[in-house]
Amino acid sequence: MNVLGIETSCDETGVAIYSGEGGLLAHQLYSQVALHAEYGGVVPELASRDHLRKLVPLIRATLKQAHMNQGDIHGIAYTAGPGLAGALLAGAAVARGLAWAWDVPSVEVHHMEGHLLAPMLEEPAPAFPFVALLVSGGHTMLVQVEGVGRYRLLGESLDDAAGEAFDKTAKLLQLGYPGGPAIAAMAEQGDPDRFRFPRPMTDRPGLDFSFSGLKTYTLTTMQKESAGLTGAALEELKADIARAFEDAVVDTLAIKCRRALEQTGSRTLVLAGGVAANQRLRQRMDEETRKLSARSFYPRLEFCTDNGAMIAHAGWQRLNAGQANTELAFQVNPRWSLMDLRDPGR
Ligand code: KG4
Ligand code: ZN
Repeated sequence: MNVLGIETSCDETGVAIYSGEGGLLAHQLYSQVALHAEYGGVVPELASRDHLRKLVPLIRATLKQAHMNQGDIHGIAYTAGPGLAGALLAGAAVARGLAWAWDVPSVEVHHMEGHLLAPMLEEPAPAFPFVALLVSGGHTMLVQVEGVGRYRLLGESLDDAAGEAFDKTAKLLQLGYPGGPAIAAMAEQGDPDRFRFPRPMTDRPGLDFSFSGLKTYTLTTMQKESAGLTGAALEELKADIARAFEDAVVDTLAIKCRRALEQTGSRTLVLAGGVAANQRLRQRMDEETRKLSARSFYPRLEFCTDNGAMIAHAGWQRLNAGQANTELAFQVNPRWSLMDLRDPGR
């Protein structure tokens, strides 16, 4: 079965084809980053319009890349939430229209399930059950995963998501948008020993997170240390702060992941979502899991951030298990909880 996947939940238009027999056959991505950069964040209405502009050409390019035409597609998967309502609607409308016109089944995909299962696109793929750390711009969750749709929440952020903390901190340091890659690049020049930022909520039991305090800590450090600084000295301070911030987030995530593995007895840790692209985080998780005789898995860099491949793959999992939309009417779910999902085979 060849499944066309469509991702439009935020500022990336992603299209891909995943096949049960051949795996990932083609994928195309159009990033709107340049469009939103001058506003310092995503402008929802601009995002929706740009998805509509780019979707059909991207679908054509994806079919061409796979040497296929519409008759080769057996199902269509699209992100139905969570995300920006207008952006989700743009993708859903195109997906449902195509499914009707081509007379193939369609299935709604939860964006975070797409991220969660994305490491399965790699070789070797992690096997169920595993513990997953989902770290994106909107979510930070530790999840016990028994199978597709069989999720138990172990912990989550009580305020800002990890990616959101990167984005807000980058804004404070005037490093631009998106913040994660900007902070990571700046931190490379930073002195790891100059500042030590707190590791929030690691001094008490439990697997929840809180990242909003780190942003305040960054702001006060910046205010205190930057008086009278300009040019290279100011850049050096920003680099040292970026490094302290990144180390604090990575350390906090690592401590909680170790705890989750110990608590569940699992020996497999899966990392997914935009922040999983962070090299320091990947390295640290490899070290932590090695110490526990466990193993860490993550997607290739381009499949950590939003993409169509993860949606085609998650959609294939569900269509293959017999799930499909039965009504012509459709809606999107901008605030859909991952915990509302069910095993499609049961
Ligand atoms: O998964 P994603 O593309 O979109 C959401 O579903 O939210 O994640 C985007 C988030 C942004 O907050 C971005 O700053 C962060 O992932 N990010 C990173 C890195 N690359 C992207 N954070 C830290 N280090 C990176 N290298
Ligand atoms: Zn995402």
